[in-house]
Amino acid sequence: MSKTKEFFDNFAAKWDEVNRYDRSDADFRRLVAKLGLHEGSKVVDLGSGTGVLIPYLVEAVGNSGMVWAVDVSEKMLSHLSRKFPKKNIKTVPVAAEGLSSIGTGFDAVICFSTFPHIDDKPLAIKEISKVLKAGGRFLIAHFSSRKEINDFHADLPEPICHHVLPDKDKMEELLLNAGFKITSFTDEPLKYELLAVTTKSGTRDSGFGTRKPVNRDS
Ligand SMILES: C[S@@+](CC[C@H](N)C(=O)[O-])C[C@H]1O[C@@H](n2cnc3c(N)ncnc32)[C@H](O)[C@@H]1O
Repeated sequence: MSKTKEFFDNFAAKWDEVNRYDRSDADFRRLVAKLGLHEGSKVVDLGSGTGVLIPYLVEAVGNSGMVWAVDVSEKMLSHLSRKFPKKNIKTVPVAAEGLSSIGTGFDAVICFSTFPHIDDKPLAIKEISKVLKAGGRFLIAHFSSRKEINDFHADLPEPICHHVLPDKDKMEELLLNAGFKITSFTDEPLKYELLAVTTKSGTRDSGFGTRKPVNRDS
């Protein structure tokens, strides 16, 4: 078992107690709106944990959409399943590095408060690119700046003290190598958001600009 999985498995039962985001529904909806989801979309919550984003993602994809909650920690996912027993949520205990085992044709992948913890980042980004449809969106987000995250992790026990969010040049290199282009980037106190889009060719599925979103806060 990887040390990261062991760490988060051990935290799963108390995660919702110790990891409270002091944010409003509007903040979460604003984040999810960046994914451009609509009724019927298929979205992956990569590193879903116990499901802090799930209500907002479910709202955005509507009854005919699907949310894949993917996490390396089965224990995190079992809490998520108990909290959200809805039919259009699939929990999948796989690592980001093996993401393509869940299939292809996804509209978007969100990686919220998780990217620094992924061991093999180049491989994970390639896997994310594989699962997305042409024009699919990939959002890495934190309610902290890169410096705030890296400083916070540095003070935590093994293995988290080694988990870092790379700098923008490195992220750009990793994303370009996997066929992404960065379409927006913010790194400021209490906010890190990197939005990338796949540049692979293929039929761009509907949903980007044409359909009315189910949930759009901003
Ligand atoms: C800091 S928690 C964030 C969880 C949730 N997004 C939240 O904000 O509450 C990071 C999550 O990423 C998961 N994780 C770590 N490495 C992973 C990997 N390589 N693939 C998939 N999930 C991973 C952990 O098990 C954990 O649930």
